[in-house]
Formats: sequence, structure tokens, C-alpha cells
Amino acid sequence: MSDQSAETLNYDPSNVYLPAHGLNPSDLPELAPKLNQARDELFADLRLLRSADPIPEHKKPLDAGFIDLPDRLLADHRDNPATSELSKILRAAEDLRSSIDRLVVIGIGGSYMGTRSLFEACCHPHHNELNRVDRNDRPRLYFAGYNVSNDTTQGLLDILGRGRPARELDERWGIICVSKSGDTLETAIAFRQFYDALRRATEGTDWLSKLVYLVTGPESNLHKFGKKSLTTEVFFIPPDVGGRYSIFTPCGLLPAAVLGLDIVKLLEGASAMTSRFQRDGTGSNPVLDFTGVCHLMETRGATIRVLSLWDQCLEALGFWYDQLLSESLGKKEKGATPITVVNTRDLHSRGQQHQEGRRDKLITNVIVGKTRREPLPVGQSDSNHDGLNQISDKTLPEILKAAIDGTAQAYKDDNRPTANINLPAADEFSLGQLYQMLMLATSLEGYLIGINPYGQPGVQAYKKHMQSLLFANR
Ligand code: PA5
Repeated sequence: MSDQSAETLNYDPSNVYLPAHGLNPSDLPELAPKLNQARDELFADLRLLRSADPIPEHKKPLDAGFIDLPDRLLADHRDNPATSELSKILRAAEDLRSSIDRLVVIGIGGSYMGTRSLFEACCHPHHNELNRVDRNDRPRLYFAGYNVSNDTTQGLLDILGRGRPARELDERWGIICVSKSGDTLETAIAFRQFYDALRRATEGTDWLSKLVYLVTGPESNLHKFGKKSLTTEVFFIPPDVGGRYSIFTPCGLLPAAVLGLDIVKLLEGASAMTSRFQRDGTGSNPVLDFTGVCHLMETRGATIRVLSLWDQCLEALGFWYDQLLSESLGKKEKGATPITVVNTRDLHSRGQQHQEGRRDKLITNVIVGKTRREPLPVGQSDSNHDGLNQISDKTLPEILKAAIDGTAQAYKDDNRPTANINLPAADEFSLGQLYQMLMLATSLEGYLIGINPYGQPGVQAYKKHMQSLLFANR
């Protein structure tokens, strides 16, 4: 029997309870009734969404569909293993994986950041440099459409052969284009450019329509294009799931499955977190506790939230969270500012400020419990020019632990509050828990502070001006 507790994410805020600049142990229990009320409202809105009742205007958009999505997908897969959404995703992923050596995921914001974070967290750190055998037959992965960069786009088109005929498996490449609206300019431009290169690369064959997958909203122009031009399944982001909450839709699941990640385990992790969120009280509920501590610290001036990742493989997850928090709560002149740091790297850049700068930060460490590979020792050296023979038998995980503990002590000594998210491993089940914890916490905090955590009305302002500059007089 597997030890469940060994796989369970845990949130430990003990180092926020400090004599000065931190919290009192009674603060969180005192906030508990408000947190519970916000949780009740969140689930009441989910029930409203699942009912036939109309959604009142003041609650729109109500993108709470992410909350029970993992449970719904898993139940569907259990009940209808041959026809479930997950089985369709797994079949499409298998078709694509066996047909191509390079995959380009096109999308921006919530339509690509989750995939990038899963890729970096779960795959070999130099995946794209490995040969196909060492990649376990999985394609190399690239991203496009997440920026407007002439030279980055040209560089990727170079790698893909710029439309040169791609006949053999090691030359063939494919596209997953993700856009819920289907009309995001950056994504649409990149899709046009990469689709055209792929059309030229596959000219004279029937490959083109099989190498392109779309993940979009049912009403989008992209869907219409897919129906007309492709033979592949078009996958949907459900209307009640917002872009940055869409990692457990085909937006994240399809590319993850192409990379051979265990998407069932990912969803099981998410589902386990939702159950804990629904069931447990403050003190043992990572979502309530994390939300409560972040909120209380913000009311005491910690308007900056540093997510301090103690593994390079989690950096893109930090950026995913940056977007989640910024777009969800950065409204009505409210919302904390997220910052992602990766340590020990950023101890040599931001560390000084975190130790002695303004007291406007709450640092939340994400600490990974175990490495995938065997621990690598420092090693003996004949010259011992650096004097490190004394610790030659120490391994990198042991050195990292000393850095984690030493940094925590240094912050504590100066009354700088920190908390820890202990992630059992950088694997699918653990990450499923973490993504869902952060999405639930972000929504919950919206309810707590009176902000609709869904939608991003502010993003329209730049788009409007950009469109009028581009399309004026045309
Ligand atoms: O969270 C969001 O909704 C946004 O970040 C979107 O994901 C992003 O703007 C891309 O939108 P779309 O998927 O419609 O192209």
C-alpha cells in the first residue's frame, strides 16, 4: 500500500508567527469564519453554474468550472473509458507523438503558461537536446505566439526548416494551437505563419490536416477553421473555465499527454486538493491557510508576494502563478503583486532586498521533497584548491537543504515572515495538488476581498489602442 501522507502537499506557515512584523498565532483562527464564508460562497456559485438557473449579471463572468473539472473528467473516464474526453486526448496525443519529432504549442497567457510549467517541471531539463530514444519517443517542444518577437519567431522557423519538405519522422513537426477566444492577435498571427510553413513542408502529402490540433472555444473562428480544414479532433476549453484556470482542460492536458505525462495522476492530485479544500478547517487546509496568511500579511503591509522556488524546474510554474494572481485579483486598485524567484540563483540577485529591504513582502517557499535522480556528491579533488574536500561526500540535495534552512533562519532572525509549501516531488500527482491549491486560493481570495477573480477587463485597454493603430485606414 502506498503511503498517502508521503504524497500529500503540505503548507507550513510556522515562520510567519514572529514577534514583530509577522502574525500572531490567533490571527488565522480569528479569520476562519470569513474564510469559511468565502468558501461557502464559492461552492454556492459552483452549484449555481451547474444548475439550470440563469447567472445574475453581477456575477458574470462566473468561470468557476475549474473547481470540479478534474472530478468530472476522472468520473467520465471511469464510466466511459472508450469515449471519455480523456481517452480522446490520450488517443490524439498518441497519434501526434508517433507522427512528429517537434511540436510547436502556439498560445499566450493562460493558453500556454501551464503547458510550459508542466514541461519544465516534469521533463528532462534538456529534453529538446536529447535524441529520440532518450526522449522515450516524445517530440521536442517549442512555444510560439506568446510574444511579438520577430527574431524569436524567425529563429524557430529556422529550426523547423522554414517550410522545407518534411518527409521523415525526424523532420516532421506539428502544431497545437490554443486560443479560447480564437482571435487573440499574437496567437492568430503565429498560427498563420507556422501553419503556412507546415503547409509548405507537407505539400504533396496528406499530412497537413493530421499534424495540426486546435484547442479553442466552441464558438470561435478557429473552431470553424478546424472543422473546415483539419481531420483532427478539435478540443474545447469549456465556456465556464477561464484561460488562466484552464490547465486541466485540453489546453494543458493535450500537450502534457503528447509529452507522455500521466494526466490521470495530474487530475487525481487536483481532485485530492479540492476534497481537502471542501472538507478541512483552518490549520489543516492548505487553501484556507495559504489564503488566510497571504491576506492577513497583506493587510499588515506585505503587498508583495514572493514565490520562492527551490528548484529550477519550477520557474515556469512561478510565472504561471504570477499571471494567475495578477490577472485575477489586480482589479479595483487591489491585489497583491506576485514575484517569482528561483533559489539559490536569486539569493545572488534579490536576496539582499529580501533580507534588508522594505518590509512589504511575504515569502512563500516551494520546497520539493525528493529529487528524480540519485543525489550527486560534491566529489574529491586532488588539488583541493577550493578547500571543499571537507564536504566532498555531501550531495547537492544536502547542500540545498543547508541553503533552505540557512535562509529561513536568516529571515527569521530579522523578523521577516516566510511560509513553506512542501511539495512531495516534482511529479504529476504533487503538481496537480499545487496547481489546484493556487487556483482555489486565488478564487477564494477574490471572494474574501470582494473582487471577481474571473475575467480580465483591464487587458482590453491596450488591445483597443493596438487594434486601432493597426487597422486604422485599412
Ligand atoms: O487568463 C486569461 O483568460 C488570459 O490570460 C488568456 O488565457 C489569454 O489572453 C489568451 O486568450 P485566448 O486563449 O483567448 O487566446
